[in-house]
Amino acid sequence: MKILEPLFTILADGRFHSGERLSQDLQVSRSSVWNGIEKLKAMGLDIYAVKGQGYKLAEPVEPLDKEKILQSTTPEAKLHLPHIDVHWSVDSTNRYLMELAKYGAQSGHVCLAEIQTAGRGRRGRTWISPFGGNVYLSQLWRFQAGPASLGGLSLATAVAVARALQKIGVQGFALKWPNDILAGGKKLAGILLEISGEAAGPANVVCGIGINVLLNDEPAKAIDQPWTDLRHVSRTVPSRNHLVGVLLSELIDMYIEFETNGLTPFLPEWQQWDAYYDKPIQLSMQENSIQGIARGVDAQGALKLEVGGKIRTFYSGEISLRPL
Ligand code: BTN
Repeated sequence: MKILEPLFTILADGRFHSGERLSQDLQVSRSSVWNGIEKLKAMGLDIYAVKGQGYKLAEPVEPLDKEKILQSTTPEAKLHLPHIDVHWSVDSTNRYLMELAKYGAQSGHVCLAEIQTAGRGRRGRTWISPFGGNVYLSQLWRFQAGPASLGGLSLATAVAVARALQKIGVQGFALKWPNDILAGGKKLAGILLEISGEAAGPANVVCGIGINVLLNDEPAKAIDQPWTDLRHVSRTVPSRNHLVGVLLSELIDMYIEFETNGLTPFLPEWQQWDAYYDKPIQLSMQENSIQGIARGVDAQGALKLEVGGKIRTFYSGEISLRPL
C-alpha cells in the first residue's frame, strides 16, 4: 500500500505522532511506518524522532491544495485556469506540460508538484527539487503570435514573481538579469521558459517557476550556487497555497499585458528591483567576458552595458559583480 502521501499529510501539522498511532491510522505495521519515515527523509523532509513521543517534522508544512490555491486567485485569473494539476511527484512540471501541450492542452493549464525527480534549470542545469515545502510550478500559455514576439517574456515573468512576493509581504529580494530572483545575493527563485510552435504562431510557452520556500540543508548540499529560502528571508514560512494563488494571478495579468504591449510596461519595475543597476559588473559569455557598468535592460529584454562611455546590448551571458 502507498503510505507516503497519507503519512506526510498526518505529519504536516508539525506535531508529534507516535509510531503506534501512525500504524493504527494508516493500517500498516510499525516497520512500514519506520520505512515510510526513512523514505520521506530521503526525499528531503526534516523529520526527527523522540523516544516516547514519536515522529515530528522540524517545521510544519502546508500540503499543496487546489481549493486553497483558488481562494487566493483573483476573479480574472479564475477565468484563465482551466486545470490545476497538483501532483505528489513528477519528473519535471515543465516537461509534463510540454508533453500535454503537444496534445492540445488548454492555455492556462497549471501543474504543481510536491517533489520533482528531474527538475530542469536554465542552461541545462538541474533544479534541485526536494520534498518538503517549496514551490515547483509550471503554467502553459498560448500566445497567438510566434516565438519571435516573446523576447523579454522571461523578464516580464520575473517582474510577475516579484509582484507576487511583494504582495505576500516578502521584502529584501532583487532581480538579476535575465530572470533570477535573489535575496542577499543568494538564489531565492528561478524561472525557466520553454517554447514550442511554428514561426508564424501560435507559440506554446511553458512558464516554469521554482521558489525556495523551505529548503532543508541536507538536500540543498547538491545545489552548486549560494541559495536561500523564504523562511530565511522573511523569518516566517508563508502559506504556499496563498503564494501560488497570488503568483498565478500575477502571471495571468502579465501574459495578457505582455501579449499586447510587450516588455515596455514592466521596465520601470524591473529597474526598481534590478540588483545590479548602475553597478560595475562583469558579463561572462561562453568564450569571453566583458566589463562595464550595468544600465538596465531594453524593451527586448537585452542587458544594457556601458563600456568606454557607450551603451552596448547583450542577449545572453552571466552577470557577476566586477572583481575589484
Ligand atoms: C533556473 O535555473 O534558474 C530555472 C529554474 C526553474 C525551476 C522550475 S521548478 C518548476 C519548473 N519545472 C522544472 O523542471 N523547472 C521549473
